[in-house]
Amino acid sequence: MLAALRNQARDAAPRKCEGVSPQRYVAIRSATVDLCEGLSADDCQAQGMPDASPVKWHLAHTTWFFDTLVLGGEARAPFASLFNSYYRSVGAPWPRAQRGLLTRPSLDEVLAWRERVDRDVLALLEGGGGAATDHIELGLQHEQQHQELLLADLKHLLSQNPLRPACRPTAPRPRAEAAPPRWIARPAGLVEIGHNGDGFCFDNELPRHRVWLEPHALASRPVTNGEFLEFVRDGGYRNPLLWLADGWEAAQAGGWQRPLYWSAACDSAFTLGGDQPLRPDEPACHLSYYEADAYARWVGARLPREAEWEAGAASHGEVWEWTASAYAAYPGYRAPAGPLGEYNGKFMCNQLVLRGGSCVTPPGHVRPSYRNFFPPHARWQFSGVRLAKDLA
Ligand SMILES: [Fe+2]
Repeated sequence: MLAALRNQARDAAPRKCEGVSPQRYVAIRSATVDLCEGLSADDCQAQGMPDASPVKWHLAHTTWFFDTLVLGGEARAPFASLFNSYYRSVGAPWPRAQRGLLTRPSLDEVLAWRERVDRDVLALLEGGGGAATDHIELGLQHEQQHQELLLADLKHLLSQNPLRPACRPTAPRPRAEAAPPRWIARPAGLVEIGHNGDGFCFDNELPRHRVWLEPHALASRPVTNGEFLEFVRDGGYRNPLLWLADGWEAAQAGGWQRPLYWSAACDSAFTLGGDQPLRPDEPACHLSYYEADAYARWVGARLPREAEWEAGAASHGEVWEWTASAYAAYPGYRAPAGPLGEYNGKFMCNQLVLRGGSCVTPPGHVRPSYRNFFPPHARWQFSGVRLAKDLA
């Protein structure tokens, strides 16, 4: 019995990584700073809404992660506790909604802190990394998650500026889908989901376990702007019969009449490259779970369950795809010991799982077992919808 429990705990722990090269560390850390090219200190300071964070905060928080959780240096920077996101076991985080008030430390001070921490982590890595290697790997995976969040938050901030600024001329946006959608059927059967292999995964992808699936079909690709526009034009946002109760309330309270960032005429959308014509063949993006669910009901379909998605998964997508699955622990899940136990496990309530990846997910960051999660009202992530349906 004890041995079985021990095995279960081992399976649920984050997988060991093979080692982190100094080159990879530098490449990933530099990529975050590269995302800020062309931004002013003012751009990096402002906070667009309580759920989003300033660019400067992302630069600082990812550094805080290495400084506090890898190097163990809570006292190294006098302002370090300001950039604790939610790790209550190591201190009291500064309120999320007030991150934009942190005009000090300056952007230059934050960048200097990054360099200091990088020097220390690189010194560790050059000595082989030792016991810190797995935490450094986690820090890099965390850094990549924040690279995507930084762009989503920045887009939301700039979208509220009447000048409609473009922050980068070659801004990433979802690639167009040329082929018409088709249904890919799957018979009833037992499948295994969860991380399988030796590479890195987050604790929430474990343990691998069996799930029974009823006969169903998944669409071959996500819904496009052109397809979603038909829902808008058909009065989809005005028909309460299509909406979950909470979704209808959120749509009324927020005045939702079309996807976030679409113009009133539904002919253009705000992008990281400023306002651009709406491309009908591009995957519809910046949808909440509620909008994705209402659309699926309008078509006479439903959203995929995460096990269906994973069993039929292709790979990295252009938009995150909402699933109908609540973000919950897999059978046998154990949160890691210590502060890193706060990374994923404590959010397993009131959120939905998204699968896939998006056009702003760093290359190589995701895998078929990857579980992203957001509350159902969230619209500012690069999230879209793939349809599913039951088969008789
Ligand atoms: Fe974080």
